[in-house]
Amino acid sequence: MARVEDRTFICSQSQDAAGPTNNWVNPYEMKKQLRELFAGCMRGRTMYVLPYSMGPLGSPMSQIGVQLTDSAYAVVNMRIMARVGRAVFKLIDQDFKRVVPCVHSVGLPLARGQKDVPWPCNKEKYIVHFPETREIWSYGSGYGGNALLGKKCFALRIASAMARDEGWMAEHMLILGVENPQGKKIYVAAAFPSACGKTNFAMLIPPAPFRKQGWKVTTVGDDIAWIKPDANGRLRAINPEAGFFGVAPGTGERTNPNAMRTLAKNTIFTNCALTDDGGVWWEGMTDSAPAHALDWQGRDWTPETALQTGAKAAHPNARFTAPARQCPTMDPAWESSEGVPISAFIFGGRRATTMPLVYQAFNWSSGVYVGATMGSEMTAAAAGKVGQVRRDPMAMLPFCGYHMGDYFRHWINMQRRLSETPRIFHVNWFRKDQDGNFLWPGYGENMRVLKWVFDRVRGGGRAKETPIGWVPRHKDIDWTGLDFPKAQFEALQEFDRKAWRSEVLGHEELFLDLHSHLPKELMFERELLICRM
Ligand code: GTP
Ligand code: SPV
Ligand code: MN
Repeated sequence: MARVEDRTFICSQSQDAAGPTNNWVNPYEMKKQLRELFAGCMRGRTMYVLPYSMGPLGSPMSQIGVQLTDSAYAVVNMRIMARVGRAVFKLIDQDFKRVVPCVHSVGLPLARGQKDVPWPCNKEKYIVHFPETREIWSYGSGYGGNALLGKKCFALRIASAMARDEGWMAEHMLILGVENPQGKKIYVAAAFPSACGKTNFAMLIPPAPFRKQGWKVTTVGDDIAWIKPDANGRLRAINPEAGFFGVAPGTGERTNPNAMRTLAKNTIFTNCALTDDGGVWWEGMTDSAPAHALDWQGRDWTPETALQTGAKAAHPNARFTAPARQCPTMDPAWESSEGVPISAFIFGGRRATTMPLVYQAFNWSSGVYVGATMGSEMTAAAAGKVGQVRRDPMAMLPFCGYHMGDYFRHWINMQRRLSETPRIFHVNWFRKDQDGNFLWPGYGENMRVLKWVFDRVRGGGRAKETPIGWVPRHKDIDWTGLDFPKAQFEALQEFDRKAWRSEVLGHEELFLDLHSHLPKELMFERELLICRM
């Protein structure tokens, strides 16, 4: 049902290289343990061999992996999420590209004549990465992030280590394009933690008056960005994936019509409810629920029993797997082999308090500080305590394949290779009032924030200086077609000194853990923030 972060390991040669935010086991001991676990683990099943490319076939920014798996579910999902097949073998033969070996088993061998279970897995789970030798071994789980090894395991954990060594970046980011009525277009990459709005933001449909004026938003990717400076010192990004593994609950005609078009065919539904006419359903898909369905565990479900017991038809982390090419807003350059130029980074978390709707960092190093100290409420995308705020630097806490302090240093250093520095912003769609209601309508209305970002990047938009960065005033946001009271905007943007005091103490806790590898730029940024406050 979800990623298992406490069973995910970064087995670098030294524990220090993995850092305190990753689980570490000595790689030789882990290998030995895995060899024992894997011996005979696929007995009675079919082993599939999946050659795959992360990124467009043959792009200089792409990488190749080969996954062995005994899960048919992993196979059919990988065929949507990555470029899989014979053409990849050809590439391997042609230019002898380094291949990342990935081995996956559900860890449930079958004796002769033994009947299989519908969702085979093992109680014991190991999601293991060897960053130096670039290997992935995954045992015991069939869930997306644990089993589709091209995604989080390769494209983030292993790729982040490659990127550090080779001078590029592997990030948990969506990529989108924004075009104004005059035809000027920029691309933006945004890092929000798991189940915090990347898919929705990447597929944003501007409010009607914006569309009428000629504003357009296009989608390049919804989860992972590989970003590299080009020969002119501009950052360019590709989406290494070919599909969307999106959160189903909350996805509906009203919130994300683009996703609904995308998943209308050739789509795999995981842990959703099954309706009596053979369709699927989840909370938020339609305004009214079906009169009866089988819930995600195959039990009878009706809206009446749900009302009494709170039982959900779909698991909160139910997902759809859909081909990217089916999304109506895919950017014409989404498969371009050189990638799209990035003008801005946006960081964002799920925060009921403290964090304003939007602010802009003063410069690159203060922006890296903003990303590094990001916090967010935990979601159902990982097994654990849902709702608790934790530090999730750059939305990469569960996905960085090496020491988080070294990762921050890599971010700081990247600027020196650039002729043009992207602007950095922080957003929060999830601030609530005292009664627990969202202060911001979100979804398509996020266009108003995106337009301010667009204007700031192009040197137009106005803002006010505050201790945390530049913020828009009510009059700096385009409210065409939305009656949004000034007082509510001020509540959304409020800089609460007391709340920020504990926020900064939270930053210090993270820094204490990472101190031996922390770049001094970030310590200075923290001092400056405290002084300004
Ligand atoms: P991963 O695939 O786990 O990396 O997640 P993601 O970042 O792509 O998250 P996604 O866009 O799927 O959103 C997750 C949940 O947040 C869904 O239930 C959405 O309905 C909800 N959500 C997304 N955008 C907004 C928003 O602007 N406002 C509010 N209130 N909820 C949102
Ligand atoms: C996430 O949890 O951030 C996801 C889903 O995008 S998974 O591929 O399972 O990691
Ligand atoms: Mn994700």
